Amino acid sequence: MIDTPETTPVRASTMEKIVALSKRRGFVYPGSDVYGGLANTWDFGPLGVELKNNIKRLWWSTFIHKRPDMVGLDAGILMHPRVWEASGHVVNFNDPLVDCRTCKSRFRADHLLEQKLGLKDVDGKSPEELSAILREANLACPVCGNRTLTDARQFNMMFSTTIGPVSETGVGVYLRPETAQGIFVQYKNIMASNRVKIPFGVGQIGKAFRNEITPGNFIFRVLEFEQMEIEYFISPDEWEIQFENWLKAMSDWIDLLGLDRERVRVREHSQEKLSHYSKRTADYEYDFPGALGWGELYGLAYRTDFDLRSHQEASGVDLRYFDQANNTRFLPHVIEPTFGVERTFLTVLIDAYDEEQTTDVNGKADTRVLLRLDPKIAPYKAAILPLARKPELTEVARQLFADVQAETGALIDYDETANIGKRYRRQDEIGTPFCVTVDFDTLADGAVTIRDRDTTAQERMPIAEVPGYIRQAIR
Ligand code: GAP
Repeated sequence: MIDTPETTPVRASTMEKIVALSKRRGFVYPGSDVYGGLANTWDFGPLGVELKNNIKRLWWSTFIHKRPDMVGLDAGILMHPRVWEASGHVVNFNDPLVDCRTCKSRFRADHLLEQKLGLKDVDGKSPEELSAILREANLACPVCGNRTLTDARQFNMMFSTTIGPVSETGVGVYLRPETAQGIFVQYKNIMASNRVKIPFGVGQIGKAFRNEITPGNFIFRVLEFEQMEIEYFISPDEWEIQFENWLKAMSDWIDLLGLDRERVRVREHSQEKLSHYSKRTADYEYDFPGALGWGELYGLAYRTDFDLRSHQEASGVDLRYFDQANNTRFLPHVIEPTFGVERTFLTVLIDAYDEEQTTDVNGKADTRVLLRLDPKIAPYKAAILPLARKPELTEVARQLFADVQAETGALIDYDETANIGKRYRRQDEIGTPFCVTVDFDTLADGAVTIRDRDTTAQERMPIAEVPGYIRQAIR
């Protein structure tokens, strides 16, 4: 594996089991696997892409389709380099980096001081201040133990590339580190081409790239990821109420995913921890297994008019909103709810993962592994299983597969391999809510067995009722 800088592994078994299940069942594979991998890059397999798309579709329908105050956007990854100067990312999107001269490991200076010295007030300190504390403490490298740590230096997390021939003639650009700026830069066009009135929001789903110093913990912190972001444009005097409204809307989304509320909390950022653009930020955190512990799932920030003002000043284009009722112009303020797709994906897997002690068909102790995924986001909604690979059964089962697929419009599995017990276990492990078995009695009574993933309860039902039953159950 080509190693990128230091990772912080979670040793807890749940995370390891999820990483193993993800590869075994086709949710997530290590990136560039046949070349030995490229650290902290991951590819989403056949089931992973379904789960990811289901999450994104649910988000889009919840926040764009169901709200008359919202519209969508799909902006490019490459943007004019001046966007990132105006947004403050060129100067401010930095982490303080420390190297070990001996083993070449890399660390975030602020994290090192928090973890090794228990310091609580390192946020916002300059690299010089952090270096002074490091020298004073004469810390050993956590990886090799040598006292050969460098001073802290600022490291900009944006990936850069060049448009055109790589020479003096090429134009240096960045891969966007957040999707938000695409919305700010297109805000004027959206205003001009749509009947939007403040308060209104623009939502977007897309890739973002960050050269993280400490990536790791599977897909928790990666270099390339997807964000689902909303910039909600408001009048400045209503920011507090709108902030509360969005805290509630984000909480409702967490319930929609079916996450365990015991593992979710809200954490307010202290003034020192606020990003360069924010006046108030609150994170929804999730209690991840093992050493990772409570970590950011989603963020909510009051960005004031920082971005529109910066782009107005840098571009010279008037970005003010015309308030017809009061015949005034002003720069809207912004509330930004932001959601990571990979963090949602990881969280729903962790939350859904369960093991049940049971016995196999021979009465031997066995463990049933299952993903209790909400049917809305489960990759397969149902699996159609002929009991045996006999033409009289497979013919009926294939017709039922086609009927259920047509009725639900969803992804349905069809499996005629292995014994039925093994096939149930496979479907449990990938979170399929229902298994429908066509057996020899079906040929006589025209009924099939529907098995519920969570309870394993089995119900006999006329075959003609199955498509409608599944459509209802997965709504
Ligand atoms: N526009 C605001 C913004 O980008 P952020 O807190 O830096 O805010 C938003 O990122 C969300 O993106 C986070 O809440 C998290 O879910 C996700 N995220 C951020 N960095 C990530 C990374 N390196 N890998 C995976 N997801 C990440």
